[in-house]
Amino acid sequence: MRIAVFDTHRFDRAALEAANARHGHELAFFEARLREETAALAAGFPVVCPFVNDRLDAPTLRALFDGGTRLVALRSAGYNNVDLEAAHQLGIPVVRVPAYSPWAVAEHAFALLLSLVRKVPRAWFRVREQNFSLEGLVGWDLHGKTMGVVGTGRIGHAAVRIARGFGMRVLANDIRPDERFAAEAGFEYVDLPRLYRESDVISLHVPLTPATHHLIDAHALAQMKQGVVLINTGRGALIDSRALIDALKKCHVGGACLDVYEEEEGIFFRDLSDRVLLDDVLARLLTFPNVLVTAHQAFLTAEALANIAETTLASVDAFERGEPLEHEVRAKEVLRDPA
Ligand code: NAI
Repeated sequence: MRIAVFDTHRFDRAALEAANARHGHELAFFEARLREETAALAAGFPVVCPFVNDRLDAPTLRALFDGGTRLVALRSAGYNNVDLEAAHQLGIPVVRVPAYSPWAVAEHAFALLLSLVRKVPRAWFRVREQNFSLEGLVGWDLHGKTMGVVGTGRIGHAAVRIARGFGMRVLANDIRPDERFAAEAGFEYVDLPRLYRESDVISLHVPLTPATHHLIDAHALAQMKQGVVLINTGRGALIDSRALIDALKKCHVGGACLDVYEEEEGIFFRDLSDRVLLDDVLARLLTFPNVLVTAHQAFLTAEALANIAETTLASVDAFERGEPLEHEVRAKEVLRDPA
């Protein structure tokens, strides 16, 4: 089938082309991000393949439908950027890649955490300048500390296992607790106030829904331990960035590891090194010595890219053959989470 791939980068083009050798679809790669204005690029393509910062709102979906699109094959796990209700009304199924490598994301959360608490970027910059002083590089052990994991789905599971491997005590919160896993992995489900009160590190692994939008706001931050380190590899809008900045300025929050940012669309995935950064909130976050930002790269491993490409193209195969779509996201899945 003809597939219009939006927001293409060299890394996913290579992975999709390699996988497509086994599937034989016709791939057209567009660097443009998908939105109403760019939807015309997909005219005549029965399948579009968007990424996390493509915006599939109702007008965009309508334009896609009018151009002949009949399947949206997201090459991501998250689907908060799609108006599922509008897609449903148009009869366009939306498929995603629910699990490509939860380890990729969970391991990145810990890569950021260790880099922050052991001050690795600072040490690396120093050593490159032949400054071998250790002043200002005192870190702290993860072993024996308490990790709060919000969301124990696929990625949260992996994060719990890694934390337990480090000898951390784990407290978790999920609207659908997995008590068997808790008993097996040795952790406890608690309510959010207790998780906030007792955790030294809090890692977010919930999807972005109306219920989780700005989950971490000023009220939540105020309940957290002095010096808490926050990790967000979920979605940017899980955290109210302005409230986080206030808490960082007051030194109430001891550090933040951010792979996602609520206004990342149009910034992340692009080389803006010769431009003026116009987003004052992100600019302020980048000034803190205890904030580490990566540009939504937690998923970016060879294993994950290969799985994403394979699952996406297998969904297109199933669609072409008129078979049930195993990885379809339905509007009710979003509504299942209390708003
Ligand atoms: P999942 O669907 O397996 O797990 C999500 C968990 O969150 C479920 O156990 C669910 O019950 C729980 N949950 C939902 N709403 C909740 C709420 N209001 N309070 C507490 N728990 C709640 O999803 P998975 O695969 O673990 O991914 C989690 C999120 O990570 C994705 O939705 C996506 O936004 C993000 N992600 C980020 C990536 C990156 O590169 N930074 C890559 C892949 C995913």
